[in-house]
Amino acid sequence: MEKTIGEIIVEAMPFLDRASDAVQPRVQDLVAAGGTTARNVLDGVWMEVPLHPVLTDVPIGSWTAALVFDGLDIVSGKQAMRNAADASLALGVAGGFAAAAVGFSDWRYTSGGSRRMGMAHALLNAVGLTLSTSSLVLRAAGRRNAGRLAFLAGYSLNGMGAHLGGELSYKYGLRVNRNTFEATGPDDYTPVLDESELGTDEMRRIEVDGVGVLLSRSEKDGRVCAIAATCNHFSGPLEQGDREGDTVVCPRHKSRFDLCNGKVIDGPAVFPQSGYETRVREGKIEVKAVEENVQEKVE
Ligand code: FES
Repeated sequence: MEKTIGEIIVEAMPFLDRASDAVQPRVQDLVAAGGTTARNVLDGVWMEVPLHPVLTDVPIGSWTAALVFDGLDIVSGKQAMRNAADASLALGVAGGFAAAAVGFSDWRYTSGGSRRMGMAHALLNAVGLTLSTSSLVLRAAGRRNAGRLAFLAGYSLNGMGAHLGGELSYKYGLRVNRNTFEATGPDDYTPVLDESELGTDEMRRIEVDGVGVLLSRSEKDGRVCAIAATCNHFSGPLEQGDREGDTVVCPRHKSRFDLCNGKVIDGPAVFPQSGYETRVREGKIEVKAVEENVQEKVE
């Protein structure tokens, strides 16, 4: 099988595992030290999408604009183009530092191939960002041509780094909703358990139509609640997690979900767990997938 560009780049850097061994525990400690609020900000819980791809749009867009303005400056010699190039470059550098901080946070749970590729992605982008920062310094010192060249080299490395970022998502599924590709469960009410078998504080995993569903009773009003039993972050088994009131904490990386609607309370997960409608008929608990979660399978 042909290797991807990402795999070729990773193989050219045999030191990635050693570098990851040294850096990853420190990143994990640093993020943990920030507390739950800081973690939720970095993970993008407040936006309900991963934050890193949002922030990377800033340097990609700004640096591409800077490249165009540099070209127009060379052709026209206009000061306005020069100023626009420098401002776009500076904005991209600021966005690049923010994206790097959040990207390291995303990388803290990776392992194996995704950890190696994540480290290669980080190194290429770090060198690219350093060159773009140097370009700002060179431009300010009046060495504009050297600054342009440094930026061009940095832009190329960041392009390669961005490609690896794409492979991290598309090949390794980093920060995607892992439940998207699973069965969605019954699209009509289906009996799954005798109501008498579900205790008040209990969380019970049942299998129905090829999907694991986590049943519980709300502490507030006793109604039966149901959400997907497999954590959409890295497939943690939620039935083995800790129950805290009407929420469950994933045993793997401590994402916390509302047991009745699947909403994320704490990350690193950012996507809600799929929810199920419930009812009790003739002593049986019945569940059906919430309509918006039912996906037609493409043949
Ligand atoms: S698997 Fe990571 S938080 Fe659940």
